[in-house]
Amino acid sequence: MSEKKLVFSGVQPTGNLHLGNYLGALKNFVSLQKNMDCIYCVVDLHAITTFQNPKELKNNILETTASFLATGLDPNKSIIFNQSSVSAHSELAWIFNCVSRVGWLNRMTQFKDKAGSDKEKASVGLYIYPNLMAADILLYKATHVPVGADQKQHLELSRDIAQKFNNDFNCKGFFPLPEPLILKNISRVMSLRDGTKKMSKSEESDYSRINLKDSADEIVKKIKKAKSDSESIPDNLKSLEKKPEALNLLNIYSEVSKINLEKALKEMAGKEYSFIKSKLADLLVSEISPVGKEINKLMNDKAYLLQILKKGTEKASIKAEENLKNVREKVGLI
Ligand code: TRP
Repeated sequence: MSEKKLVFSGVQPTGNLHLGNYLGALKNFVSLQKNMDCIYCVVDLHAITTFQNPKELKNNILETTASFLATGLDPNKSIIFNQSSVSAHSELAWIFNCVSRVGWLNRMTQFKDKAGSDKEKASVGLYIYPNLMAADILLYKATHVPVGADQKQHLELSRDIAQKFNNDFNCKGFFPLPEPLILKNISRVMSLRDGTKKMSKSEESDYSRINLKDSADEIVKKIKKAKSDSESIPDNLKSLEKKPEALNLLNIYSEVSKINLEKALKEMAGKEYSFIKSKLADLLVSEISPVGKEINKLMNDKAYLLQILKKGTEKASIKAEENLKNVREKVGLI
C-alpha cells in the first residue's frame, strides 16, 4: 500500500468568493501546499447540479482559478485544473453510481437542504453529487481532504464507497479511505448581519459578506455597518458566546491578526465596537484588497488563466488515466 500523502480539494465556481472561503479554505490550501502534494480542482461539474448561466459559468471558472492564484496557490507546486476537462471524473462517477446505495444518498442532509420542499424538481445530478465528489477524490487516491464541517458527511460517503468497492472487487487497500482535514475555522466566519448564519454568497444583502473583490472603501463600509450592539465588548468567553455578532468580529480579528481568540478578547475587552471595527477594517483592507486587485488583474489576462488550467489538466490527466485504467480492470470492463 502506498503511504504517500496526497491532498485533494474542490471549490465550486458559482461566483464571488468571500472572506469565509478565503479564511476557511483558500488560506489553508496555501499552507498545505508547503509540505504536501496537493490537487486543487475547480469543480464545474458540481456547479451545474443547479442551473448555471453558461456565460457566467465560464467566467466563474476563470475567476475561481484567478482566486486560487491570487491567494498564493502555486501552479508549479500544486495541480490546479477544472474538473470537466478531465473526463475520467465523470467516468469514475458513473462506476460509483453503481457502487453507492440509494439508502446512503437518502441520508445526505445537504441534498435535503438544497432540494428544499420540492424534491421532485431537484436535478438527478444534485442527488448523486456526493458520488461525483467521491470520484474526484478517489480518482487520484487522495488521502487527505480539506473540507468544511458541512462536507464531512459527503466525505464519509466517499469512505463508504471506497470500502465497498475494495470489498466488492476483492482488492483490499486499492482505494485508500480518505481522511477529512476539517478546517477548524471554515464554519466560523459568519454573516456580518446575523452572527448565527454562515457567511454565504447566497445571502441577499451584500453587506453580510466581504467579497474578495470588494474595494477598500467597500470593506471599510461593510465592517462599519456590521451588526453590533450598544454595550461594550465583553471581557470573557462565556458572555462573548452569547453575542454571536461580537464573537464573529473577534474570530475574524483573531484570524487575520494571527493571534488566538483568548488573546484577541483580552485586547478588546471593555472597548467600544467602533474600536475593533476600525482595527479590523484596516487589517482586512491590507490583506484582502491586494487579493482582489490580483484577481482583477488576472481576469484581464484570460489566456494566461486558460494556460494554467491546461497545464494542470495535463498533469491531472496522467494520474487520472492511470488510476481509471486500473479501476476498469478491477470492474471487468474491456
Ligand atoms: N462539495 C464540495 C463543496 O461544495 C466541493 C467538492 C467537490 C469537493 N468535490 C470535492 C471538496 C472533492 C473536496 C473534495 O464545498
